[in-house]
Amino acid sequence: MASFPVRNKVALITGGVEGIGLAIAKELLRNGARGVTLADLNSNLGKTAMQELESSFGANKAIFVETDVRDIDKFEAAFIRTIEVFEQIDILVNNAGNLDGNQRNNEIDINLKGTINGMLVGFEKYLQTNRSGNHAVIMNLCSTTGLKAKGSIPIYNSTKFAVHGLTIAWGTKAHFERSKVKVVALCPGVTFTNLLKKVSRRNLEASYEEHMSKYEASGPFQTLEQCAEGALQVIELAPNGTVWVVERGEKPYQFVLPDRFKFTEKKYITNQ
Ligand SMILES: NC(=O)c1ccc[n+]([C@@H]2O[C@H](COP(=O)([O-])OP(=O)(O)OC[C@H]3O[C@@H](n4cnc5c(N)ncnc54)[C@H](O)[C@@H]3O)[C@@H](O)[C@H]2O)c1
Repeated sequence: MASFPVRNKVALITGGVEGIGLAIAKELLRNGARGVTLADLNSNLGKTAMQELESSFGANKAIFVETDVRDIDKFEAAFIRTIEVFEQIDILVNNAGNLDGNQRNNEIDINLKGTINGMLVGFEKYLQTNRSGNHAVIMNLCSTTGLKAKGSIPIYNSTKFAVHGLTIAWGTKAHFERSKVKVVALCPGVTFTNLLKKVSRRNLEASYEEHMSKYEASGPFQTLEQCAEGALQVIELAPNGTVWVVERGEKPYQFVLPDRFKFTEKKYITNQ
């Protein structure tokens, strides 16, 4: 698949009323997208986000649909509404996420099951039938936490590894050939949003604070704008089934899982 310019495309962004999701919505509109749907639980922030987008990009460029990604019927309703309003849907950003060590079911239900719901409704249905061109794109929000063990946040860590896994599985050649839907993952490094501000750190393992302090000491967090610029490049240019890190204001770089069939030296179990 050649590049996928976002000009005149329509995107549905879950968790789109604040943080990384809203920043991606702005970046898409700034680059000529025809419309965006902000699909989020939070209708108060939804109103504010809509006002902000309207004042920056003009009327009729964005809609808010109250959506809970944990409920596949509500998720599907956001697609149906998008198609009613914009008559097309080309991009899904599975971005809604949660980090809260005290409500671990939420992390699994939102980060993992919510993303799977997006794949079932988006990949298997509307992005194949209601896109404006020959191709469509799904970008899943993974995390650098989906690439490396983070003992301080094990449940969140496991949900993001799972998002990594489902992206590369749905991103295999056979799925692309039957669907013409590209599936990629974005793995932001620390980006200071409400996800980090509102999390009750008392509920997380003690070493979380230590991890965050070390990360902060080793360089600045990236801005939302830098994260969204990386996201745009990944949507437009990344090959199907690939995984991209965006952190600290650097250009996105690819993360490639080692292929065990190419191990030159295997480490066998030993009796120590
Ligand atoms: N902020 C970071 O440092 C960072 C780093 C790596 C990955 N991520 C990932 O990026 C994504 C966005 O994170 P953020 O930092 O912008 O978070 P955020 O808390 O600022 O925004 C998350 C949004 O998701 C919405 N949401 C939560 N549950 C929902 C549900 N069930 N249905 C619909 N919407 C729901 C919230 O209302 C909110 O608007 C998440 O998947 C997160 O795991 C964030």
